[in-house]
Amino acid sequence: MESYFENIMALKQIPLHIRETICDEMRHGIEVSNLAVMLAGELGETEGFLADIAVAGILHDIGKLRLTKYLYAEDGLVVEQMKYVRQHSEQSYEIINKAGFSREIALGILHHHENYDGSGYPNNLRGDNIPWMARILRVCDVFAALTADRSYRNAFDPKSALEIMIDEVADYDMKVFLAFQRVLHREVFKIGLEQIKTVQDQRQQEQMALFEEELKHWVE
Ligand SMILES: [Fe+2]
Ligand SMILES: [Fe+2]
Repeated sequence: MESYFENIMALKQIPLHIRETICDEMRHGIEVSNLAVMLAGELGETEGFLADIAVAGILHDIGKLRLTKYLYAEDGLVVEQMKYVRQHSEQSYEIINKAGFSREIALGILHHHENYDGSGYPNNLRGDNIPWMARILRVCDVFAALTADRSYRNAFDPKSALEIMIDEVADYDMKVFLAFQRVLHREVFKIGLEQIKTVQDQRQQEQMALFEEELKHWVE
């Protein structure tokens, strides 16, 4: 187990089920980051953009840590939780801004739940009004979520996840989604998901410290 997970698990003041959930969130961030780098590369983006989206992928859901008490309560009401879930992208945005990341990364994170048809949140942005980085993250995020176990369902295999996404195609920028399918067929289906869930480079590893930082506020 990599040291960043060990560091989280060592925070014994935090209930075990929450520590485990946070490690799952970190794994999710790693997966989104790796997928987003591959997808942005397929879309012909620059090295600089790839470096930025690697960071954005890791940190896009970090705001959930501020909502931990509401989101991960074992006896939480589902309706209440939904209300708080929708605040997490704005919380992430605040954390990222405070930490001094670029505007592009911050906006990519703020809008990672916007749908191309305008049905997303927090601002119901539509089409090309959604920042480019956010449109790329959106596709990777949904795929990563579908291929992970949830408390209420098992993970979908990659092919079934893709079929579900095709049914919801109005959510995505078609150019991005088609490029994503090429990445899946050429790379992901071949190398398997396990590899995509591991940190690939130093830049990603450095961001893990921010999760620990956030948890310190929570423990105080
Ligand atoms: Fe999210
Ligand atoms: Fe996410």
